[in-house]
Amino acid sequence: MGYIGRREAAPIIVEGLKKLEYRGYDSFGIATIGNGIELDKHQGRISDSSHSAGHLKGKIGIGHTRWATHGVPNDINAHPHTDCLNQIAIVHNGIIENYADLKRELILRGHTFRSETDTEVAAHLIEEAYESEKDLLSAVQNVVPKLKGSFALLIISKGVDQIIAARYASPLVLGVGDGEFFAASDMTPILDYTERAIYLEDGDIACITPVTVEIFNGKNQVQRPVELVDWSIEDTRKGGFAHYMLKEIYEQPQAFYNSVRAITRETIPAPIRNPESVTVVACGSSYHAGLIFKYLLEDSCAIPVRLDFASEFKYFSPPIKGVVIGISQSGETADTLSALKQAKGHNCTTLAIVNVLGSTISRIADFTLFMRAGPEISVAATKSFIAQLAILMQIIDFIGDGEYEEVLLSGHRAIEEVLLMDLSGAVELCRNANSIFFVGRGPFYPVSLEGSLKMKEISYIHAEGYAAGELKHGPFALLSKETPVVAICMPGETYGVMISNIKEMKARGAPVIALGEQGDLELSDVVDIFIPLPETHPFIQVLTSVVVLQLLAYHTAVALNRDVDKPKNLAKSVTVE
Ligand code: F6R
Repeated sequence: MGYIGRREAAPIIVEGLKKLEYRGYDSFGIATIGNGIELDKHQGRISDSSHSAGHLKGKIGIGHTRWATHGVPNDINAHPHTDCLNQIAIVHNGIIENYADLKRELILRGHTFRSETDTEVAAHLIEEAYESEKDLLSAVQNVVPKLKGSFALLIISKGVDQIIAARYASPLVLGVGDGEFFAASDMTPILDYTERAIYLEDGDIACITPVTVEIFNGKNQVQRPVELVDWSIEDTRKGGFAHYMLKEIYEQPQAFYNSVRAITRETIPAPIRNPESVTVVACGSSYHAGLIFKYLLEDSCAIPVRLDFASEFKYFSPPIKGVVIGISQSGETADTLSALKQAKGHNCTTLAIVNVLGSTISRIADFTLFMRAGPEISVAATKSFIAQLAILMQIIDFIGDGEYEEVLLSGHRAIEEVLLMDLSGAVELCRNANSIFFVGRGPFYPVSLEGSLKMKEISYIHAEGYAAGELKHGPFALLSKETPVVAICMPGETYGVMISNIKEMKARGAPVIALGEQGDLELSDVVDIFIPLPETHPFIQVLTSVVVLQLLAYHTAVALNRDVDKPKNLAKSVTVE
């Protein structure tokens, strides 16, 4: 986060970093230009401290909240980093991949390093370039081509009334105020002040003063439009909920409805409406949404879908052709971005499904469909997952003959119904477990993967999602009364075989929590805890079962006193490969 303008910078940056903390939260730091470069850095979370940085003076400043890549989280490795003379301060997101070579050369030239980070090399390189160029912008323009990897950089220097911002493969947006500018990784902290945004492109270097911004790509000056962001400041607040995650779970009926409404036959690009085959690339929860899509599209329209982890695709990509869909809430996930670039290299038509306007993935894809989930702050994906499914289900509907229109337009009502469900019995079983299995068949198999991901991510209980029929091929050895199984068993073709699987698990001592259709006595009779879901279309039962599993993970994590919104070791946007 950076600020330049007419107000004191430090308090604005502190508040901004609190809002950006979901991107990384192991340490933080701020630098302002006051009496020289004034610096304050700490291990830990800015939101846990009563830190105001009030002693840092000056109307120009930069700050950072870190997710460690190079060097453990401590005060010294926290950003900003400075040069030998403490005249230049820099914050950096991303990774400088050639930092080791650069560092070796800089040490040979007499530079002294304080931290273990890759970032510090940039501070020393700019120090050298500034000495010869005597101009901060030119110095950064000289240094940027030497850096390999990904970076969003903000740089300030003693005695220079500017912030220099540089971007390559890591997001950076400028907020345009009245006699002031903001710079941040996304708009969340900027919305307090302005809705006017300039999204920097790869290779851009911006020279920002309180009243002007000049943007260069390399050395050529370029124009970037000022765009209006339609997220409101209210969307970024907790609104009386104990956690952002719970608020976001409760926003799902609206997120689903808005996302369904946003997609019409016309908004779906022509190549996507009639594909011979589709490849999907994504990570984490977005990958699970892709797997649900695969089951549903293949079943409804008999169109083959290939699904790959984006992190594998770049290195082991198949001979792909046709349409490639990248799914990403943030629109910044480095692996998904590279996979889509790879697909473009194969002349495939690329479609991005993302939540964040102006995000990098939306900019490189041939076509983008935006989810209408609004800002998602909690690290665990919830409403974005439901919004992804809304769009993917709409695509299926438009590839087919429109038979799901009514179903999708009313799906939010069933989601509303499950929000208030009492899960206390299931939570009690889970909170005491060492390990939990989640199982399902067909599209409920990816639902089980998503349920287990949510559980392990926020409760720290080991959990695994399995295709229900696979448990007997090995994992049965782990079943015991300390290992609950959460089974999703909805009516349909696999109902009978699911009941048999559940009985096999029960016979091995595992307590079973089952999600089934309300009124299903056969199922409720064989399981320990029965969670009744509304009787609706199978597409919507996918949604309701996901929501119940999110709530199960949430309440289990709360019962265990976990840090629900900021689970340990994680960050919301993973902009490194
Ligand atoms: C899990 C979660 C992650 C993300 C993954 C991809 O709750 O949030 O698994 O789904 O990091 O992120 P996006 O969708 O931003 O590409």
